[in-house]
Amino acid sequence: MVVCMLRCIISLVKISLLLGVLVYGIHFWLSNKDYVFDAGKIAKISEKYAGYEAEAAFRDILKELEDLYPGHILPSRDHQWIFVNAGGWMGSMMVVHASLTEYVLFFGTAIDTAGHSGRYWANISDTLITGQYLQWKEGEMKSTVYGPGDTIYHGMGEVTSLNFKADTWMVEYGRGFIPSTLPFALADTVFGTTDFVTAFYTVRVYAKALWMEGSLFVGEFRDYLKGNL
Ligand SMILES: *[C@@H]1O[C@H](CO)[C@@H](O)[C@H](O)[C@H]1NC(C)=O
Repeated sequence: MVVCMLRCIISLVKISLLLGVLVYGIHFWLSNKDYVFDAGKIAKISEKYAGYEAEAAFRDILKELEDLYPGHILPSRDHQWIFVNAGGWMGSMMVVHASLTEYVLFFGTAIDTAGHSGRYWANISDTLITGQYLQWKEGEMKSTVYGPGDTIYHGMGEVTSLNFKADTWMVEYGRGFIPSTLPFALADTVFGTTDFVTAFYTVRVYAKALWMEGSLFVGEFRDYLKGNL
């Protein structure tokens, strides 16, 4: 009995140490790696289209992104509006870039929706093209109202209550440990709506984006080796 308990405690300590090293390692990587995009630049591109008709705005923003970040934007055959059920709200997203540490997507809703923002190991910024976004921060007693052209920052570890008005559309950039955001993004789908088709679309587009970034990385690495050997 005592031996067993001792073994259990040792196992727990080992697992905790391993987790600690893993979290620290990812944190170190996130703090020191180079990024393809930056929040300021994505906001600057998007805010020019504030008040435009959302569909036309997204088309033009996509063109700008393809010119600025060749090879990092998913091809048009992979552009798909996918429903997102999370934190009690329901929206729709179109992923245009995703890697282990960054993503860019178009997001919004055609009807009013509200709920919990989620707490992420990522910094997330949203630039509004149309509509209205109410954000109620933890610990406060008032909400803030954002409109077209505004950029809303959601810091790592923060949590808010949010309300998107009908026909609110935005460009979203996330930077952090992106796989950690998936459980929240899929929780309501897997355990609430049980819409496994939507869950499949979500995982599929992320897998395609990861594959694209991975291939690009391998190609660059090979070129680097050729140039240096
Ligand atoms: C998230 O934002 C905070 C505050 O600006 C910054 O210190 C941190 O480095 C950011 N994290 C990443 C992964 O960019």
